[in-house]
Amino acid sequence: MDYPRTFDQLPPGASKICYYSSLGSTSTKLRRLAEEGAPEGTVALADTQSAGRGRRGRFWHSPPGKGIYFSVLLRPPQLDPAGAAPLTLVAAVAAARGLRDTTGVPVAVKWPNDLLVGPRKLGGILTEAKTSGRKVHYLVLGIGLNVNHLSTDFPAELRAAATSLRLESKQVFKRPDLFFALLERVLRDCRLFFQTGFAPFQQPWRKMSATLGNTVVLDGASGKLRGKAVDLDSTGALLVEDGQGKLHRIFCGEIR
Ligand code: BTN
Repeated sequence: MDYPRTFDQLPPGASKICYYSSLGSTSTKLRRLAEEGAPEGTVALADTQSAGRGRRGRFWHSPPGKGIYFSVLLRPPQLDPAGAAPLTLVAAVAAARGLRDTTGVPVAVKWPNDLLVGPRKLGGILTEAKTSGRKVHYLVLGIGLNVNHLSTDFPAELRAAATSLRLESKQVFKRPDLFFALLERVLRDCRLFFQTGFAPFQQPWRKMSATLGNTVVLDGASGKLRGKAVDLDSTGALLVEDGQGKLHRIFCGEIR
């Protein structure tokens, strides 16, 4: 189903939904709007992106009529860059819980930003911040989700590793309804996070985790680490036990 051109209703916390039939990237567009003074809760939504961005400079495949691609502008008061770090985990929990409730698909979270079903990638989250010193001017939270894709809608090189809600459930979803439900959850959980910190999200993340208990190889700021992911602490750090039994608290990086 196509998106409406305008959204008359807004979920709590959203100030405006800007819909574009085609964009380079919703996150790039929203950063530009943020620089022009767009308020907290501005949302950029696109039917298709020609330059969708993933973490570490990767490309996010965004064909028209298939997925959900949107970004949300957040201007949290009194948050320093370190405090904002778990936001990606919060958004992942919000999206996974929202999708489980609305579609019944058993979506899991992989630290820090992936949404999986079994071993396959369903979606991802990209958090970008404008900061200076200890001040966060704004955050742009971008979410990409594979919804009505068939396997032929993915490029050949992604086919084995990617999935969609349709492939998992044999159902076709109404993207506007799903987008609205997701946006509502994400905004609600972000507000809770800014008020209370990460603690309320620790247990839900653990329960939906596709990471804990596995051997992981982490590419992080301080090099490569191989070990077992044993827990997520109340600040959102991943606890990894190396071969010598030493525990490492990991705040950022990527699991291979
Ligand atoms: C990842 O898995 O690496 C993150 C993917 C994030 C993709 C979304 S789609 C909407 C928003 N706009 C972008 O350019 N990227 C994010």
